[in-house]
Amino acid sequence: MTAEDALAEAVEEAARLVVASSHVVALVGAGLSVESGIPPFRGPGGLWTKYGEPDMRGYERFVSDPKQWWEERISGSAAYRELVESLSQAQPNPGHHALKELEDLGYLKHIITQNIDNLHQVAGSHNITEIHGNRTKLRCITCNSRWPLDEFPIDELPPHCPDCGGVVKSDTVMFGEPIPRDALEECIQQTAACDCMLLVGTSAVVYPAASFPADVKMQGGKLIEVNPNETPLTETSDVVLRTAAGESLPRVVQKVRELANV
Ligand code: APR
Repeated sequence: MTAEDALAEAVEEAARLVVASSHVVALVGAGLSVESGIPPFRGPGGLWTKYGEPDMRGYERFVSDPKQWWEERISGSAAYRELVESLSQAQPNPGHHALKELEDLGYLKHIITQNIDNLHQVAGSHNITEIHGNRTKLRCITCNSRWPLDEFPIDELPPHCPDCGGVVKSDTVMFGEPIPRDALEECIQQTAACDCMLLVGTSAVVYPAASFPADVKMQGGKLIEVNPNETPLTETSDVVLRTAAGESLPRVVQKVRELANV
């Protein structure tokens, strides 16, 4: 069997699982946006691979002096500047569009994304939980109110929440910051309902996101890994698409259309 035959077989198997499932959830990581020009964090070309793991006390430092954080926010580290530069240029790629199409067809119920790049929204997906926040928003750390960056006038540092007076920060979850309660609750509910999880472009090493696939497996669900490299989830995955997401996800959607005759 050639590599192409094996991939075609895996694509068909993945599509069959998707069509046979009742609540498919995609757990998305930085790998999905690599083909949009945004570097991943780990593995080849990863930001942490290049610059080293970031300081895990980012949130602790923010809470101790939010005004200084806001004043320093524009500067940031070399890794931060490289990430921001790539984020500002990025557009959705065929992988994002494939997930949007799967949602439109009714076969993808929810996306849990670890990405902050807003590309799922730009691609037109709707049912999204951003477990690590969204770079285009601000959030109150007390009541979790969120605002688009361009709809929140920053006339004091640190800015304060008009709803509860709490301190407002970037919605992007910092290292050491608790996952916002509303986002975590949605992820838990979606995982509990999930009978098939697409693992798209994630190294599956950051918790709590990395725990969701194990929960799905424990409740009898199926796992489909879409990643050019092995991960800790490879051996428990029912189907492995060892390719870039932009290559195999569109093929899975095409096969779902054929199988479901839609
Ligand atoms: N298509 C699919 N997967 C890809 C592609 C691609 N084109 N290119 C790389 N990958 C895979 C890599 O093999 C790797 O397994 O994407 C994964 C990216 O892993 P990470 O960089 O660790 O990203 P992620 O899993 O999202 O990290 C989780 O860690 O640093 C924090 O907050 C950050 O949300 C991030 C979290």
